[in-house]
Amino acid sequence: MSEPTEPNHNQATNATVLVTGAAGYIGSHTCIELMANGFDVIGVDNFDNSEPVVLDRIAELAGRPIQFAELDIRDTEALRKVVSKHSPSAVIHFAGLKAVGESVSHPQKYWSVNVGGTLSLLDAISTSDVSMFVFSSSCTVYGDPAAVPVTETTPVAPISPYGRTKLAAEQAIIDHLSTRDCGGLLLRYFNPVGAHASGRIGEDPVGVPNNLMPFAMQVAVGRRDALSIFGDDYDTADGTCIRDYIHVVDLAQGHVAALKAETDIDSCEIVNLGTGRGSSVLEVVNAASEAVGKPIAHQIVARRDGDAAVIFADTTKAESLLSWSADRTMVDMCRDHWSWQSLNPDGYRTAD
Ligand code: NAD
Ligand code: WQD
Repeated sequence: MSEPTEPNHNQATNATVLVTGAAGYIGSHTCIELMANGFDVIGVDNFDNSEPVVLDRIAELAGRPIQFAELDIRDTEALRKVVSKHSPSAVIHFAGLKAVGESVSHPQKYWSVNVGGTLSLLDAISTSDVSMFVFSSSCTVYGDPAAVPVTETTPVAPISPYGRTKLAAEQAIIDHLSTRDCGGLLLRYFNPVGAHASGRIGEDPVGVPNNLMPFAMQVAVGRRDALSIFGDDYDTADGTCIRDYIHVVDLAQGHVAALKAETDIDSCEIVNLGTGRGSSVLEVVNAASEAVGKPIAHQIVARRDGDAAVIFADTTKAESLLSWSADRTMVDMCRDHWSWQSLNPDGYRTAD
């Protein structure tokens, strides 16, 4: 297993990367991996779903401060100033909203941030020297696929406003980059879980978690009574849904691989980032219980609307195009997620 990369202060690439959503869950882990690999990072975020203290933790783990500007990505002029000042050669675009349920009740907000924000960013870099644009897309664009594993040519059929905004942003990026000399990588993540091995940064959902692992870990730490498992009557071995969980540090390292692959890429490519392995909800709950050292209380309830029974990635393209694969196991994911949760029971709100 490749460890989170140790800071190497002698490693210089002279390349500056603009990271939007740098204070978020995946963005913060990626900043550390980028800085450890010699990239200079200029992060931007409006802290809509994150806390400023994350920047201190990034600096602590990376061994140097992160350059940062607080802004909303829909503020094109503010972004343009950042681009003009720092002259990034690459952009990694994480900033966005990601709660499927909220996207159903507030679609306008999702179109504004996820699509409007992406258009604003594309506008802000339009006359810059950015030569690689990496976008955080999602396996949610595949909806409920007819066959697994899903490849990048599996038909897209998003079933929520969130999924439709991710697909629309992908299409805007493809059209924009076709007019200029800039490569593009549209990375479709599967289910990111886990945390930095130090337990200093991790996922800190506001309110009731939507996702399985954060909910299970909040039960384990005593913040919630029991996990509800949404259905055990699916056509799978144990009746619960199967997903492709990927360790967030593997995912972060996938972004470093994406930038290092830059010279081989002269077009806009879609790439799945997953492990290629599926785990059922009960398998995850059992692995999490092992990591925690006690059973995680759970009950079976009705199915959740819109859940696919089984989805996991075909990882062939990521391996060939990026020379990258995820190697952390479910044991690693649960151990590291539990380190983060147990050291920070209330997330960043208990931060020093
Ligand atoms: P996150 O919410 O932790 O991080 C997103 C960051 O973007 C937050 O720090 C938030 O404050 C910031 N942000 C939101 N709106 C902004 C705006 N208008 N201007 C500036 N900053 C803004 O989410 P994450 O899990 O790190 O996800 C990052 C990206 O990956 C998102 O685009 C998401 O759609 C995508 N993605 C996430 C998952 C997942 O399960 N976590 C899966 C697939 C794709
Ligand atoms: C996983 C499994 C649930 C919570 C979501 C987004 C997707 C992408 C990844 C951003 C499912 C079950 C969950 C709970 C449960 N994110 N579950 N009890 O739905 O695969 O994907 O995150 O792009 O767009 O939709 O992830 O963690 O919500 O659910 O039983 O309290 O756990 O039914 O089978 P999902 P999830």
